Amino acid sequence: MDMDFIKRTAIKAAFESGRILKSHFGNILDIRKKSAVDLVTQADTASEAAILEIIRERFPNHSILAEESGLDPGDAAHQWIVDPLDGTVNFAHQVPIFSISIAFARNGVPEMGVVLNPISGELFTAVTGEGAFLNNRPIRVSGTATVGDSLLTTGFPYNLRSVFDIITRRLANCLRAARGIRRLGSAAIDLCALSCGRFDGYWEQNLHAWDTAAALVIARESGAVVTDFNNNPFRIEHKEILATNGLIHDEMLTLMTV
Ligand code: IPD
Ligand code: CA
Ligand code: CA
Repeated sequence: MDMDFIKRTAIKAAFESGRILKSHFGNILDIRKKSAVDLVTQADTASEAAILEIIRERFPNHSILAEESGLDPGDAAHQWIVDPLDGTVNFAHQVPIFSISIAFARNGVPEMGVVLNPISGELFTAVTGEGAFLNNRPIRVSGTATVGDSLLTTGFPYNLRSVFDIITRRLANCLRAARGIRRLGSAAIDLCALSCGRFDGYWEQNLHAWDTAAALVIARESGAVVTDFNNNPFRIEHKEILATNGLIHDEMLTLMTV
């Protein structure tokens, strides 16, 4: 498998999608609600169509799992996992924190990830075994040793109201223990920001494979430890994710116990 060609394809698709997202940013005409808080815009669908066209042109037999169009089964051992716009609520409210997330998985395990914030121009890339990069410069997780000295990030699921108590208990535990907490609104950007040392820990629940697949490769290649809340190695089917610089992982696991 030519992983470099795979990565270059993902980067090309991400930049094409970024061009489309930027052209819609600030002038959204049509917002559809999947639920009261889960939105989809013309930008999500146009971005996804452009990405899928580039992937299909080069890899017509591969499987694709994309948020808006679902699963195209193809050859399941070679699968692309696409979130054409991670951070749709930010996008709809003109907050310039959102991303395009494109992963390639072999036999269900992501091995290449590309995450682009088209507004900031930050491009995060990684291939398993080759390290993680921000705009072609190697990145590494932080060296912060305690949660007390940590800046954490998290996200809240769309079904927040039905899991409100458990979410707020975990949040309260972390608020008491950490230096600070941020909520950026794009799970892929949260994981990439952890990967380059801006955050020391990140947790969230009720995510989908397209939210985590690309940034998972970037996080692991930058030295992050990524598990579920029971310390099992994270897999993209998992709904719970705890990613840290490794040094604060045990302490964070205790804060997840509610
Ligand atoms: C959402 C973002 C957000 C996270 C949500 C995701 P979307 O993805 O990643 O940060 O908290 O759980 O669903 O819907 O904007 O692609
Ligand atoms: Ca998403
Ligand atoms: Ca999305």
